[in-house]
Amino acid sequence: MSETNPPVTPDDLPVKAAYQAPESPLPKSGESATGPADSRIPALVEHNDGLPQHFRRVVSFHPRGGRLNPVQRRAWDAHAAEWDVSVEPADLGSIEPFDATAVFGREAPLVLEIGSGMGESTAAMAANRPDVNLLAVEVYKPGVAQTFHHLEKAGVENVRVMRGDAVEILTALIPEKSLSEVWLFFPDPWPKARHLKRRLVNPEFVELVASRLKKGGIFRLGTDWEHYAEQMLAVCSSSPSLKNVHTGWAPRPDFRPKTRFERRGITAGREIFDLEFVKRKSAAPE
Ligand SMILES: C[S@@+](CC[C@H](N)C(=O)[O-])C[C@H]1O[C@@H](n2cnc3c(N)ncnc32)[C@H](O)[C@@H]1O
Repeated sequence: MSETNPPVTPDDLPVKAAYQAPESPLPKSGESATGPADSRIPALVEHNDGLPQHFRRVVSFHPRGGRLNPVQRRAWDAHAAEWDVSVEPADLGSIEPFDATAVFGREAPLVLEIGSGMGESTAAMAANRPDVNLLAVEVYKPGVAQTFHHLEKAGVENVRVMRGDAVEILTALIPEKSLSEVWLFFPDPWPKARHLKRRLVNPEFVELVASRLKKGGIFRLGTDWEHYAEQMLAVCSSSPSLKNVHTGWAPRPDFRPKTRFERRGITAGREIFDLEFVKRKSAAPE
């Protein structure tokens, strides 16, 4: 997200520096994948997961602080006990897999939204899809708290929010073949050539998503960055586990309002690209 940063506090995210990737057009010719050294990008953009520096994973999110504004603090205090289903990173390897029926208190198709941001569109989508249990994943604590605020305003009960890195959560907590849909709407675009490696959508990530989808489950993606859209299309089309529901781009999902970042892209004159892939019925046996 490219919001103004709140002051950095050390308590929430496992990163320490505030850095926003400035928006700029993609790859200037002659710019290498790693690019020239940029003193504004400390090594702390890497995920500090306790491993030695050379083992640290490149992550898809911007390091930011976790301080809540008064609206977020109130929403957090009012709803975290019920709606926050986060797991401490240190417990990820040892905790039981996510039990959606127990957490939501009902049987319903489970949908995972990755990178729900401030949650405005999450709340609207949950209201438009009362048939599903929606698990929203977001790394940014103020975003989670703001989501509670929007859920309360919308009066929806079918959302729970998990704070953390979606890659770790999918890997450690979400059982295989358990998801009916995965939504990835307007992920951080990382438009600069030297940041392309931070994009979430790559072959490993797509196979991870596919492994958590049920057969016939749907992976929906949307972006306003054409270069990233082409990458999403190429990577998902190459997956042996997924099949494009459409020829090329998909129509926009009718349940999605214009998200915060979608509006921003439209205002900047960018086109919106949607994709819809289905988990193949002929994928490896259940
Ligand atoms: C550009 S915002 C889009 C928010 C929202 N989907 C929308 O359209 O308004 C992308 C969000 O994804 C979150 N994010 C990035 N990488 C993530 C990851 N690996 N796991 C969970 N959230 C992530 C960021 O913190 C940010 O809030």
